Amino acid sequence: MRNTLKFVIGNWKMLSQQQHALLLARDLASYCKKQSHHSVRTVICPTFTQLVSVEKIISEMQIASDSLALGAQDCYPAKEGAFTGDVSATMLSDIGVRYVIIGHSERRQKHHESNEFICEKVKSALEAGLIPVICIGETLAERQEGKTAQILEEQILGSLPQNFSGIIAYEPVWAIGTGITPTMDELQENISIIRTLLEKHQPKTASQTPLLYGGSVKSDQSADIFSINGVDGVLVGGASLKADEFIKIIQSAPKD
Ligand code: PGA
Repeated sequence: MRNTLKFVIGNWKMLSQQQHALLLARDLASYCKKQSHHSVRTVICPTFTQLVSVEKIISEMQIASDSLALGAQDCYPAKEGAFTGDVSATMLSDIGVRYVIIGHSERRQKHHESNEFICEKVKSALEAGLIPVICIGETLAERQEGKTAQILEEQILGSLPQNFSGIIAYEPVWAIGTGITPTMDELQENISIIRTLLEKHQPKTASQTPLLYGGSVKSDQSADIFSINGVDGVLVGGASLKADEFIKIIQSAPKD
């Protein structure tokens, strides 16, 4: 999966009503349909209620799935059962979802999700044939205490099953939705730390694992982020809700 392929993933969170979601999906699908190269993969992750209608837009417009694909923002580990309010990876796969974000800090913090629980979700996503996008990253306090590498190692050890295959998104919690991004030097350092940790703990798959950056990504610095050695893409929240801004980010990804 790694090498020259770059990922631009939009996490729409709980920020978009249906009408806006459909317009956004149409605009992005029209743009991706015109793309002649396939070295950038765009993934959009609407909220659960919008997945079916966004999938319909992508399939009706006949967009190549290596150009634009559908992702979900979460899944539950069990395949089915009495889990009121939850959605399984199998159900997502059944409606044409191909990617799933797991372990976002908003779920780790607000839903108290542990590394162990996240690992169960990752396994269920893989079993269902989905590509998991696992978010890891330190809080501001952990960063200030010099614990970044330790936290990243704990999350990699706890959240990833053996021989993990999927995508890792490095999202420092203090950079999410704040407009603050790490300096390029800090980002380079932490990306290198994560790559080394993956080689240590996931030796069989590390070299194939795309590593993304997420946290206040905007079009005016996305080219710089892409230029960092070892960054294979970006996970974008707020800026993915505006078609023109998100398209500029897609355009800033290096092409073959
Ligand atoms: P942001 O969110 O781009 O709005 O900071 C990123 C994310 O939460 O994935």
